[in-house]
Order: sequence, then C-alpha cells, then structure tokens
Amino acid sequence: MTSGSTGPAARRPGIRSRLSAAAPAKINLVLEVGPRRPDGFHELRSTFAPLELADTLSVSIRGGDGDELSAPGSDTLSIDGPADVPVQGNLVLRAATLLRAETSRPLPALAFRLRKRIPAAAGLGGGSSDALAALDLAAAAWGLRLPVRRRVALAAELGSDVPFFAIAGWALVRGRGERLRRLPAPTGGRLGVLLVVPAARLSTREVFAAFDASPGTNPQQPESRAGSTPHGAASRLARRLREGASAADVAAIQPANDLLPAAEALMPGLARLRRDLAEALGRPVHLTGSGPTLAVLYPSPRQARSAREAVLDGLARGALIAPGGSAEVIPTATVRDGVARAPHGVASAPHGTDGRPRSTPSRTPARTLRMTEGAP
Ligand code: C5P
Repeated sequence: MTSGSTGPAARRPGIRSRLSAAAPAKINLVLEVGPRRPDGFHELRSTFAPLELADTLSVSIRGGDGDELSAPGSDTLSIDGPADVPVQGNLVLRAATLLRAETSRPLPALAFRLRKRIPAAAGLGGGSSDALAALDLAAAAWGLRLPVRRRVALAAELGSDVPFFAIAGWALVRGRGERLRRLPAPTGGRLGVLLVVPAARLSTREVFAAFDASPGTNPQQPESRAGSTPHGAASRLARRLREGASAADVAAIQPANDLLPAAEALMPGLARLRRDLAEALGRPVHLTGSGPTLAVLYPSPRQARSAREAVLDGLARGALIAPGGSAEVIPTATVRDGVARAPHGVASAPHGTDGRPRSTPSRTPARTLRMTEGAP
C-alpha cells in the first residue's frame, strides 16, 4: 500500500464530495466443486459472467473537511433497499476496516450509502461486489494507491467471490475463487438473463456442508467423485468463449452446477420450481452459485424481458410455486465489462490475477467513479 495525494477527495481539500460506483451482480454459468481442502474451502472451477443488474455504492468523508481523524469502527453504512440486508458485519464496512489497517496514517471516518438492487444471499454475488466497490471507493476517498496484487489479496480476504469483481469481465475462476483468468465475452451481443429469486434464502456455508455430506462427495473416499457435473464443463465453456462463441451458443449450454443437488435438498420446492420453469419456458434452467436464484439464459436481453410476463403469470395462477411463497422475477443481461477496475488509473489485471497479472495500464482505464461535489 502506498499513500499519496492523488485521490479525488485529496485533490479538493475542504470540499465535501461523494463518490459513487456501480457494483454489478454475477451469475455462474458452470460451477464445478472439488473436495474440501484442509483450510475448509472447496476447490472450484467456474465460469462467471457479470450482469447489468447492479447495486450503487457511494461514500463521503464524515465531517467533510478531512480533519475528523478516526479509529476503526467509526465508518457508517446506510442501506436503501430490502430490510433483510444487515448493516452489522456488512462486507462494505469490513472492506473499509481492512483497507484502513493497510496504512499507519490516521484516516477520516467514511459514510457509505448503499442502494441495494441485487437480492441478498441469493447466489448473485451482491455482497461480494459491494465489498470490492467499497475497497475501491475507500481507497479513492482516502487518496490511497492500492497496487494490483494487494487489491486482489484484500478482496480474497473479504470472501471467495470478491476477487472476481476485481477484474473487468467474464472469467474462469479457480482455487477457492482467487485464481482468475479473464475470458472474452460472447460475440454478437449480450446474453439475456431472466432471474427467478425465491423469497426463501440459502446459506452458502450450509449448501457446501450439504454438498460434503451427500453420497459420492466425501473427500475421505478418494475414489468418490467430487461433483456430479461432467468433468471439465467450465474449461470447455472457457475454450468455446475463446474460440468466439456467440450469445446464442452460450444461451444454449446445459446447466452444470455441482451445488444443485445440495441446494435442492436444503430447500424444499426448489427442484419443482426449476422443473416447472423449464417446462413453462421451454429452456434449460440454471442454478447460480449456491442458490437459490434460478437463471434462464436467452440469446438476447429482449427475449429475457418478454419471458418475465409468463413467469409472473405462472406465479400468480399458482402454476409455478416458489419456496418462501413468492419470487422476484428480474430480467437482466450479461455485460462485457461490468465489473470493477482499479481506482486512480492503477493497472488492474484483466487476464489473470493469480499472482501473474498480464495487464498494461493503458488498456485498463480506472473504475468509473462518479463524484458529486458539495453534497455530503
Ligand atoms: O468465502 P465466503 O465467506 O464467501 O464463503 C462462505 C462459505 O462458503 C465458507 O465459509 C465455506 O463454508 C463455503 N465455501 C467453500 N468453498 C469455497 C467457497 C465457499 O466451502 N470455495
């Protein structure tokens, strides 16, 4: 960590400014899970895509004049959105605390505001994306320069999915989630994605525990197969994307998520909803992350938007029944470059952040931070 006076807040001392950034959701198009490692995490191999659906996080320096030096724990967070998103222990505040510990310089307290649109605890990476946005916004507000590798290392400390949001686009994700290789987005436009988010929620930790407990996944039995997904599905999709797969090609892939049986075992009604959706829409239905969000892929965003009505109608008539009694139905799209890049024009690592960044600063513009002056 180096510090300097080049951040937007530092450039205009005495002026109250609010910086904001989009924090996009993700879906896992393929998720292969290996056995549990000695550190308690599972070896993953997954193809991640960023979505247009995004939260908005903003930050200002509390007190505004930069003199209010403060101890860890004095940063604040207000959330505009569903009441089920906790402030206490929120990754946004943990990101600021982690970054503060990187420097011995006293730093002013930060006031974060989060406009929450991504359903929480739903397998869409919302909390992880907010965390990376918080890291970048805090660095910018404090005028701290965060080197590429340190940024990814801090992201990995915050959670397994957070490093994905540190690179700018589609990625093959391995290890616990910290080994990333950037992939080209599909050719021929954005993929339409219809998200069906049951009101009931699943805990990632519990889904992985159920995965461990299910027959055939016991790491103590070396002959057992770790997951049910055909081996190599994530790498095969990665190869197809490198070869120029189109949005229509990707929209036609078969679902492959090793956590599906565990998520369906933990949430009664999820398997039925998935089958009924597939029948109603005539398309494969994917589980994203550890669920419970189901995702239906379309060759275009327009097709995903028009499918929304059919799902809402099915839910209203009782032909589709969602665990928890209701579901949010959100049409969105994958994006080429929806994710965070390093602040202040610092190089990020678009082709790999597994300790071997192969980026050039000129090809990786700074994360888009909007600044509003005079509005604390
Ligand atoms: O890293 P994160 O806090 O998001 O992970 C939540 C939980 O999910 C972990 O405590 C762990 O039980 C499980 N997990 C795992 N293997 C991974 C990622 C997450 O077992 N690769």
